[in-house]
Amino acid sequence: MLSLRKGSGIMFEIKKLKFKHILQIDHLMIDRQITCLIGPSGSGKTTLLRMLNRLNEAEEGSIYFNGVDIKEMHPIKLRRKIIMLGQTPILYPGTIADNLQIGLRLSEQPLADENRLRAYLDKVGLHKELSDTCEKLSGGEKQRLCLARVLLMDADVYLADEPSSALDKETESFVIDNLVTFVKEHDKQLVMVTHSAEIAQRYPHGLLELAQGGCRGYVYE
Ligand SMILES: Nc1ncnc2c1ncn2[C@@H]1O[C@H](COP(=O)(O)OP(=O)(O)O)[C@@H](O)[C@H]1O
Ligand SMILES: [Mg+2]
Repeated sequence: MLSLRKGSGIMFEIKKLKFKHILQIDHLMIDRQITCLIGPSGSGKTTLLRMLNRLNEAEEGSIYFNGVDIKEMHPIKLRRKIIMLGQTPILYPGTIADNLQIGLRLSEQPLADENRLRAYLDKVGLHKELSDTCEKLSGGEKQRLCLARVLLMDADVYLADEPSSALDKETESFVIDNLVTFVKEHDKQLVMVTHSAEIAQRYPHGLLELAQGGCRGYVYE
């Protein structure tokens, strides 16, 4: 059995999981507060993240979240506890404020006041007015806006798929540092796909590597 050391108290346990030809995991625990998921392109990183909140359903085997089989959990409720931040930013027509509030709106949570919205823009280093429209934002700015949106939603677990892929090195450091700090301060869990060896080494709680050629091997450091 391969295991990641205890961290936040939040835990995934994967048993005999299979998804098409892409993933086959006999037994895996993800229980550190920060886990970086690495591996070559096409090795199944996105697929694994998506399985953790049932955006992809297992064909065989089970995933337990804090001891409960996620198949038994209501998918919408599950996705409010375990939020996926996809690789491609999704923005809605409207202002920056609208795009921050929409996550709260869709998850039926109280909306945030302007100070709170600004504080979350600061966390992701996005220095824009709440009333600005989103059309002219760069790829990296859109990515950070989407990150701020999901942080506001106050999930238990954040599944972040290359959250800094569109950022320059300096901004990447700032944003990921703030994301990690947020997760620690609020006692949450983060599972983050990253291409950056530097990031994977800087936050060494857990390193999970999907292996070349079919994802059959897992390595922890
Ligand atoms: N729903 C799916 N059905 C079939 N193949 C898929 C599906 N999702 C992804 N794939 C394929 O599975 C492999 C792993 O994809 P992915 O998880 O996106 O890898 P990574 O994120 O590590 O780059 C790729 O070859 C991809 O084309
Ligand atoms: Mg991917």
